Amino acid sequence: MKFFIDTANVDEIRQANSLRILDGVTTNPTLIAKTGKPFMDVVKEILEEVPDKPVSLEVASTDYEGMVKEGEYLAQFGKNVVVKIPMTIDGLKAVKHFEYKGIKTNVTLIFSPAQALLAMKAGASYISPFVGRLDDISHTGMQLIEEIKTIRDNYDFHTEIIVASVRNPLHVVESAIIRADIATIPYKVIAQLAKHPLTDIGLERFLKDWESVPEKPF
Ligand code: G3P
Repeated sequence: MKFFIDTANVDEIRQANSLRILDGVTTNPTLIAKTGKPFMDVVKEILEEVPDKPVSLEVASTDYEGMVKEGEYLAQFGKNVVVKIPMTIDGLKAVKHFEYKGIKTNVTLIFSPAQALLAMKAGASYISPFVGRLDDISHTGMQLIEEIKTIRDNYDFHTEIIVASVRNPLHVVESAIIRADIATIPYKVIAQLAKHPLTDIGLERFLKDWESVPEKPF
């Protein structure tokens, strides 16, 4: 499973990058706003840190012409830019346009198999079903991923499925169990994945016992 990081915070991207497990970055307007920095400064910083892996940058317009204009603008900043487009009728038209132009797309705000099917049929490179937000309203987000995967594999669509709105380590583990293509994970959850209280307790004991070992070479 590929690990994307879901953030616009370049320090978090750097930290994850230093682990050498990062396969891409996803952002959205909320994450960009959280940085408090001018949009293009954030974009350039991220693309400098991650010049060779997919970086999803979201358009702000909701009409076809606006999405095309903004997506083409963003795409000129790197071959690895993926234009993130909301799941709407205009969005689907824009996906077709970008496919024709050879620009990758990520269709976001997907909450149903029907939406996923349309986005895959339109030629989306990636789709982002939001598991956490479905869990929030008492639907099983991960079930949506399984259904979309079945549809994708039934027809050999080339779209990669990004498990998005990941909120906890279990979302990541469940994604891996059902062989999701990609999980886009906030930095906090990446750090949580590494933690286990028994690891901490075990390490503490090893360190203590090591003190009593005679004639240590280091
Ligand atoms: O990738 C989409 C993600 O950023 C949304 O997450 O936690 O706001 O539902 P959340």
